[in-house]
Amino acid sequence: MRTIIEPFKIKSVEPIRLTSAAQREAKLRDASYNVFLLAAEDVLIDLLTDSGTAAMSSEQWAAIMRGDEAYAGSRSWFRFERAVREIFGFRHVLPTHQGRAAERILFSAMCSPGDVVPNNTHFDTTRANVEYTGAEARDLVIDEARVPSLRHPFKGNMNVARLRELIAEIGRERIPLCMLTVTNNSGGGQPVSMTNVREVSAVCREHGIPLYIDACRFAENAYFIKLREPGYAARTPIDIAREMFALADGCTMSAKKDGIANIGGFLATNDEALSLEARNLLILTEGFPTYGGLAGRDLDAIAVGLHEALDEDYLLYRITSTTYLGEHIAEAGVPIVQPPGGHAVYLDAAAFFPQIPPHELPGQALVVELYREAGIRAVEIGTVMFGRRVPETGEETLAAMELVRLAIPRRVYTQSHIDYVVEAILNVWARRQDVHGYRFVEQAPMLRHFTARFEPLNGDSVPSR
Ligand code: F0G
Repeated sequence: MRTIIEPFKIKSVEPIRLTSAAQREAKLRDASYNVFLLAAEDVLIDLLTDSGTAAMSSEQWAAIMRGDEAYAGSRSWFRFERAVREIFGFRHVLPTHQGRAAERILFSAMCSPGDVVPNNTHFDTTRANVEYTGAEARDLVIDEARVPSLRHPFKGNMNVARLRELIAEIGRERIPLCMLTVTNNSGGGQPVSMTNVREVSAVCREHGIPLYIDACRFAENAYFIKLREPGYAARTPIDIAREMFALADGCTMSAKKDGIANIGGFLATNDEALSLEARNLLILTEGFPTYGGLAGRDLDAIAVGLHEALDEDYLLYRITSTTYLGEHIAEAGVPIVQPPGGHAVYLDAAAFFPQIPPHELPGQALVVELYREAGIRAVEIGTVMFGRRVPETGEETLAAMELVRLAIPRRVYTQSHIDYVVEAILNVWARRQDVHGYRFVEQAPMLRHFTARFEPLNGDSVPSR
């Protein structure tokens, strides 16, 4: 049999609603062309994120009912801690309400102004949390990662030579920790090889720099290693994951991704002193260390979800469905980051709309067109997300790439939904010459993409508020 099917049947359904073209036009204007400001009920296929949007399994729902809501030392906490220890292997586990809370605690405990934190590519919240401490977030991904059309099996790898140069240039004292993001979300959802983790780990250990893994999509990364790295074909995903985490000193995790849960995360570390400091910060804003801002039932859903994410049938379907979308649009000439990532397909908006220069936000234009065409919501990962307005000159700094991410929620959409997305993208592709750029009319100084307001550059204007 050649067809790889969804390895589940559907027990509970949620209707989705098709809007008319005129309705979508009005919604876009009301949202100032920022799809984060749309109501979800006006979206047909929501590919904004794979974060917290998964369909939970019947086992997870059963676990929810087992949730123990004791304030301290609940049964749910011990099940959660056991699952995290089994897979990740770190000694100290601190639950948080989501990934960025773990990041904030980790960086505020470890970073000072003037420090530099290297990463393959920082995710937006990771970068913002590093910068909030006064430290600098430095992306050291391999050069191949910056060329969207170039195929490389492990395009998320860190450039180890550049890591060595950074240490030689600024000194170990200014590098409180090094991070590796698996898979590399902002760089196209691309995996990091075990060889690369091993090399980065060796450099870090040589200089006494702690290595932390941003583990959000660790199961997908482990599966890519199994598929693509010599020597791993016969290994199980959990075994590969354990080998990877054994090379690190700790991790931050958003259970909203490969925890297949709707909320949650954790910080895990082998560093006892850090864990004590982190625990105090946890109590300050998240909660008691055995629940960390989560309900007992959330801890239980995550404990089950972490193991389900490592199931091979699930991972085969997961990676195949993302690849299916990527290959079908690429065959028709649509420029994407090659090869397709684990959780998402990334469109190369700069190549899609060569007539729109980067400062006119081609990624934003493509996001708007996908909604206008078919009610699909995607996210810009380009100058809107990573550029910045220089306050003195009012000019925009540009991102390295202008991407649009189509993130696939876990176990939510079927193949016919994906076929519909393919058709919609091809329709926009066919009329790509007629699309214009956008400009900012309002933006926040940090994480501006969430709340910014835009105006099309074709003469239409945003209604006054
Ligand atoms: N690190 C990576 C690589 C991420 O992709 C995210 C979240 C986080 C950290 C933060 O986790 O949302 O639980 O606080 N990524 C989501 C996304 C939001 O859409 O890619 P969080």
